[in-house]
This record gives sequence, structure tokens and C-alpha cells, in this order.
Amino acid sequence: MRVVLTAPLPAGSADPLVAAGHEVVVHDVPGDVAGAAADADALVTLLTDRVDATALAAGAGRLRVVANVAAGHDNIDRAAARDLGIAVCATPGVLDESTAEVAFALALMARRRTTDAEATLRAGRWSGWALDGFLGHDLHGATMGIVGWGRIGRALGRRADAFGMEVLHTARRPTGDPGFVADLDDLLARSDVVSLHVPATPATHHLITAERLRRMAPTAVLVNTARGSVVDEGALADALHDGVIFGAGLDVYEHEPQVHPRLLTAPGAVLLPHIGSATVATRTAMARTATAAVADVLAGRTPAALVPPPPTQEPPP
Ligand code: DGY
Repeated sequence: MRVVLTAPLPAGSADPLVAAGHEVVVHDVPGDVAGAAADADALVTLLTDRVDATALAAGAGRLRVVANVAAGHDNIDRAAARDLGIAVCATPGVLDESTAEVAFALALMARRRTTDAEATLRAGRWSGWALDGFLGHDLHGATMGIVGWGRIGRALGRRADAFGMEVLHTARRPTGDPGFVADLDDLLARSDVVSLHVPATPATHHLITAERLRRMAPTAVLVNTARGSVVDEGALADALHDGVIFGAGLDVYEHEPQVHPRLLTAPGAVLLPHIGSATVATRTAMARTATAAVADVLAGRTPAALVPPPPTQEPPP
């Protein structure tokens, strides 16, 4: 079988495919997902690939599986894949701890103003230690509010707990875990750090609005390592410029690699270029999970990393 990668993977990641006797090729036209799908039994994609209905149709009849090297799969038209009989796989479970590390780092950096402080030093504007220099807010003793209690949210919760924080969380359904808060607005009002860990879906699009930002404390910070579309970035930029909240730590943006221009100049903003899972071990594990899923599908097995297809009919209102 022919497995097409839209980009080179870390060394050794394609071993399960080669061992199974498959031909593995890299499609050398970046962004050309339809071209990659056209002659493939399986496709391995990145979260930056737009795997839409047109791209999937290019592989119709032959393409059996698309495996995304990411936990998220909002770049793939799952309904079109379902209709064409193409399995969709992702890589949940291997990047939780790495992503939680970056979420925690962003919380710490935003609360302690490390970006403003370092920028001042690097620009040669630091005039020396001052009693009131770069005053931020502690994390210990503060409340971490986690929106979405999946694996990454819980991994962040463990870190916050170890740091002496109170940990609250909210989710669509009661979790049965200590710290559950049923109402998002209630969690926003009670938290010193609000960290987002929900997938990008129509229901979470711009979940964090101007009104919701106003529910947060003026000393609070917002952290986003999930997907940029969960936050109304214009509203967040306004909230930072107007001092509605103290800071924000962002690793993801709605229109990557573009960053909202007013976020670039917003006081208290800590901005990272989507590095949540960017460690050698984690990126290798993600690639291996994707290729193992492809090997499973091509061998007629159901991979653990299979993303369930969406229902064919909208549920009744
Ligand atoms: C994912 O896997 O969805 C992450 O955003 C990658 O860092």
C-alpha cells in the first residue's frame, strides 16, 4: 500500500509502516493535500494541512485513512471523510504532559510578568532593582480554573495542585472530581488563572467573549494552549489594553501563523508560537502514534487513535 506523508516525520516514525511492507513517500508540495491524497491508500497529515472535502474527494475510492499528527483534528472535514468511508485518526494521549507544562509556564509567566521584564532588560532599559519593579501576582495560594477536564486539563490540575493552588474545573457534564464548577461564568469569576482545554468545535467557537472576560478579576490571567478560535482575540486584546484582566498566556491563535496585531502590543500578553507539544520525545511519539494507526487501518484493525465519525444526522434540538 502507498502511504503519503504531507511532511517529513521524525526519524524512525515510519518504521511500523515500512515493517508492514508499505511504500512510504513524502509529498513534496507543501499545502497540496489534494495532490497528496490523489495516489494514496493512507495519508499522514499535520494540523496545518487543510483536509477539506475537496482534498478528501481527490483520494476517493482508494484512500482508506487520514492520520493527523495532532491531538486536535479540527483541520479535517470528518463528515466528508465519513461519507467517503475514510477513517480519521489523531494522536491523543501522548502530548498531555508536554502541553500541560507549557500551559503552566504561560500561567507563571503571565502572572509574574516575565515577558515585560525580559523585554525591558533586553532593550537596555532596566535601570536596576526597584521595590516596585515588575510587580506581578503569585501563583501559590491562587486559584487555577480549568475549562475542560480532559487529559491535558487534568495534567495541568496536578501541576497547579503541586504548586499550592486551589484547582477548580468546569466541563459539559459533572465530573465527580473535587473542584467541579458547573457554570463557566462562575468559574471565571472565582479563578486567578483561567486555562482553556476544550477542542475547537462550533460550540466552543469564541467561548471567551468580551462579556466573559469582564467576569474575570482585574488581577486574573487567561491561558490558551487549546485552539485560537476558542477566544475572541479582538475582545481579549481590548481587555488587555483596557486593564480588564492582568494578562494572557497564549500558545495558539485563530488564524495561525497570523497573530492579532493588537495582541502583539497588548500589555501583559505572553505569546508563544504553538509549541505546546514541541519536545523531541513528544513529537516523535505523536508521529509514531499516527503511523501505527495507519498500519492498523491498512491491516484491517481498529486503531486506538481512531476518531469516531460524526453522527450522520443532527440530533433533535
Ligand atoms: C495538537 O496536537 O492538537 C496540538 O495543538 C499540537 O501541539
